[in-house]
Amino acid sequence: MKSFIINGQGVLRGSFFVPGDKSISHRAVILGAIAQGRTTIKGLLESEDVSATVNAFRHMGVKIDQREGGGMVIDGVGLYGLRDPGQPLNMGNSGTAMRLMAGVLAGQSFPVTLIGDDSLSQRPMARVVEPLRALGADITTQSNGYPPIQIQPVEQLEGVNYVMPVASAQVKSAFLLAALCADGTSQIKEPEQTRDHTERMLTGFGHTISQQGDWLRVIGGKELAGTKLVVPGDLSSAAFFIVGAAIANGSEIILRNVGVNPTRTGVIEILQQMGASIDFLNRKTVCGEPTADLMVRSTPLRGVGIGTHQVARAIDEFPILSIAAACAHGKTTLHGAEELRVKESDRIRSIVTGLSELGVSAEEKADGYSVTGGQILPGEVDSRSDHRIAMAFAIAGLVVSGSICVKDTENVGTSFPGFVELASSIGMLIQEQSGPDRG
Ligand code: S3P
Repeated sequence: MKSFIINGQGVLRGSFFVPGDKSISHRAVILGAIAQGRTTIKGLLESEDVSATVNAFRHMGVKIDQREGGGMVIDGVGLYGLRDPGQPLNMGNSGTAMRLMAGVLAGQSFPVTLIGDDSLSQRPMARVVEPLRALGADITTQSNGYPPIQIQPVEQLEGVNYVMPVASAQVKSAFLLAALCADGTSQIKEPEQTRDHTERMLTGFGHTISQQGDWLRVIGGKELAGTKLVVPGDLSSAAFFIVGAAIANGSEIILRNVGVNPTRTGVIEILQQMGASIDFLNRKTVCGEPTADLMVRSTPLRGVGIGTHQVARAIDEFPILSIAAACAHGKTTLHGAEELRVKESDRIRSIVTGLSELGVSAEEKADGYSVTGGQILPGEVDSRSDHRIAMAFAIAGLVVSGSICVKDTENVGTSFPGFVELASSIGMLIQEQSGPDRG
């Protein structure tokens, strides 16, 4: 089992890139594979999660050529050109891969089973099965709603209107992807705006999703055309260093070419409300996605009440925001975030337990947490195999007198390969150690 050891008093300095956006990378591979003709991608995230999506398409006969440094060439097979993989497709640790692939496969002419690792095998899939069934798919999970997902071929998916009960970009995207193969028009309405990368990227493949009031509308049966894509840096990965630079005295960093899609920037908004100094430089739009260089300087932070309307736009950043909260003056409260309980770990529990281990006053709520800022003490935290919990507590190590040990850090590679090397290169005193596996 791997662990991080972080010694306190690090100061972050430098101008650097973080790896490509995970959500956009999954979508680039998926749309490239089901488009007609060639798609070339630059800046793709080369992580275990994205590999799960790439390998699934390779098993279904798609030629994918991975080049060094995030380059990829995909010879797309069209909406109906995938082949029976003849074996279960393993989505590893990735909820995004499993849910989006369920959408891609719902309208195909062969049976398929989607499986995952221990964590993914305990994550809810009924939320994606329901809208796909509404489109006419023959799709099941285990009776408890967990994977494996089994899909049997049906004659034809039919367009339908679907109102989502849970705000989830994965569910929305699965529906939109399945609806590409459905007969006629399909529409979906979400309870809160979630990340809209699928909608934006489809435009680049020549397939517009139109918006009618609160409804997103997709017309089925139209092939996508291969295209050229550039993936920006992942704001969810950048967030660790944004908070690190905000809390470690004397820090000043520039994160280059980070995706700042407004459906993702809740973390920046919340940190700015806490008093963080984050400036947007060099704004651009690349392949329909806004990007910027982000300059962050250390400043004192204050606790805030996080609005429920901000939750969907910062859903992956509540682990690292809890570390900002632990360093802030006063109390930070989060509500309306019960979704955190069904991420790679029960993140409300992982955060509150970890902070308590480090002497921070933190309280678990059914749908969030409250954290009172104070001093983070040296100690040991179990990441529960959750990549974002591991990286969040590594960043906490910047401000301790002494050191923090974060255990079970293997899964950091699912979203942020090279985290330790990058963190060290900009001033974190971090090392990775291998120890005995859990008994
Ligand atoms: C993602 C959507 C979010 C997020 C996940 C990636 C995506 O999940 O937590 O890391 O790429 O669509 P939900 O849509 O389930 O909230």
